[in-house]
Amino acid sequence: TPPKRYEAESTPAVCTGSIDSNWSGYSGTGFCNGDNTTTAYAHFTIDAPSAGTATVGIRFANGASGARAADLLVNGATAQAVSFDSTGPWTGWTTKTLVLPVHAGGNTIRLTPTTANGLPNLDYLDV
Ligand code: GCU
Ligand code: CA
Repeated sequence: TPPKRYEAESTPAVCTGSIDSNWSGYSGTGFCNGDNTTTAYAHFTIDAPSAGTATVGIRFANGASGARAADLLVNGATAQAVSFDSTGPWTGWTTKTLVLPVHAGGNTIRLTPTTANGLPNLDYLDV
């Protein structure tokens, strides 16, 4: 089955920052530009057909010169640290694929930056 897409700009996703559309190549109507502070986050609610693991594609762009570090929380618990490499320009949208623990049904996935550099811009999750 094809993945289901969860856009960062669409309910029930939450972006503490702004939904922007100034960097082309995003899907849907925009992307999450999180505030560049460690208290910011992008929060998604995804469905998993069964308990175990889910393969999650995170589409992002990082136009800064250095990688951006984040914690990824599943259902409120830190699942792993994630480093989002520079993608060149802010229009350099790239997908990072992770395998995450999930339970059956609804699961929350939250990305929060671990430095004040903030998150990359986030377009969607494919699950
Ligand atoms: C620029 C860019 C934003 C990005 C921000 C950042 O302002 O236009 O899209 O989110 O840098 O460094 O996080
Ligand atoms: Ca930002």
